[in-house]
Amino acid sequence: MAKVGIVGSGLIGKSWAMLFASAGYQVLIYDVDEDQLSRAIESIGTQLDEFEKSGLLRGKLSAKEQLKLIKTSRNLGDVVVNSKHVQECVYEDLSLKQKVFKEICKYCNSDETVLCSSTSCIMPSKLFVGLERVSQCIIAHPCNPPSLCPLTEIVPHPETSQAVRQRTRDLMEEIGQVPVLLNKEIDGFALNRIQYSVINECWRLVQAWYMTTEDVDKVMTAGMGMRYAFIGPFETCHLNAEGTVQYMDKYAEGIKRVSSTFGPTPEYDKDSVAKINQEICQKVPDTREQLEQRRKWRDNGLAELAKLKKQLPE
Ligand code: NAI
Repeated sequence: MAKVGIVGSGLIGKSWAMLFASAGYQVLIYDVDEDQLSRAIESIGTQLDEFEKSGLLRGKLSAKEQLKLIKTSRNLGDVVVNSKHVQECVYEDLSLKQKVFKEICKYCNSDETVLCSSTSCIMPSKLFVGLERVSQCIIAHPCNPPSLCPLTEIVPHPETSQAVRQRTRDLMEEIGQVPVLLNKEIDGFALNRIQYSVINECWRLVQAWYMTTEDVDKVMTAGMGMRYAFIGPFETCHLNAEGTVQYMDKYAEGIKRVSSTFGPTPEYDKDSVAKINQEICQKVPDTREQLEQRRKWRDNGLAELAKLKKQLPE
């Protein structure tokens, strides 16, 4: 089976390694930090065992077989040479990523290799500027935690070749991710643009004293979020009337009227941050232990949801 290189063995690097191994790829991970590399392999082994026990292991291979496919290297060249795909997962720092991509391009020995970044918010035109292999460069931005939330945003540089766009999409599908392709780059890609529009309005409602943070969160968890796990905003419109045309006939004026009252982007000033933090801390105190406990609870819920979605016929 072909080889995939991972550059950076933190949270996202480890996740990608498991996803590629689940589809049978030989995975080679590189990190500048040697201790981090050995901790990464240990933690991948533990996580694969946990996925196997809870029925969430992807692919047809056992946890042991998948772990065997994942190896580490202290040499970036070894990770890049002869790889079908290289996934960069270093810190979110533009100059660091630019430096890493220059090195990746230097070692790359094939026009077929896809050179891919996991960046959450750096635009491809900034990240890949001046690279000799720019036509092979692309972004595949996963959603955290990638093993439970399979969305992957694919964002090309204007000069990324059509073949590389297609190969990236195909590979993501092959490993069980759900890729979405942006035709051209835009700041925030899709997920964060949509997420920020939601955060902005939630913030305005609390700041202007219409609701508590707890009740705003319930609007999502007991309302919109329930259906958004299964159908997106467009399908919601379509199903909430006799199709999209009738929905817009009925509701477009209301959407425009309400939208005209949204107001400017919140400043996220110190006082409102402190107020909202105080309210949310009554439910989840912001200590390391309490946050960790709540993340586990969230991930258990996501795992059950992922199982349910797998069982439901489309
Ligand atoms: P992390 O801090 O967990 O890991 C970064 C790793 O990069 C560390 O192990 C570090 O030793 C290594 N590193 C630093 N310089 C390096 C170099 N020159 N060569 C090789 N390795 C190097 O970071 P995390 O959270 O895994 O994020 C990685 C990327 O993924 C970032 O671009 C981030 O924006 C993106 N991302 C993060 C998500 C998240 O929720 N954490 C979600 C989606 C994308």
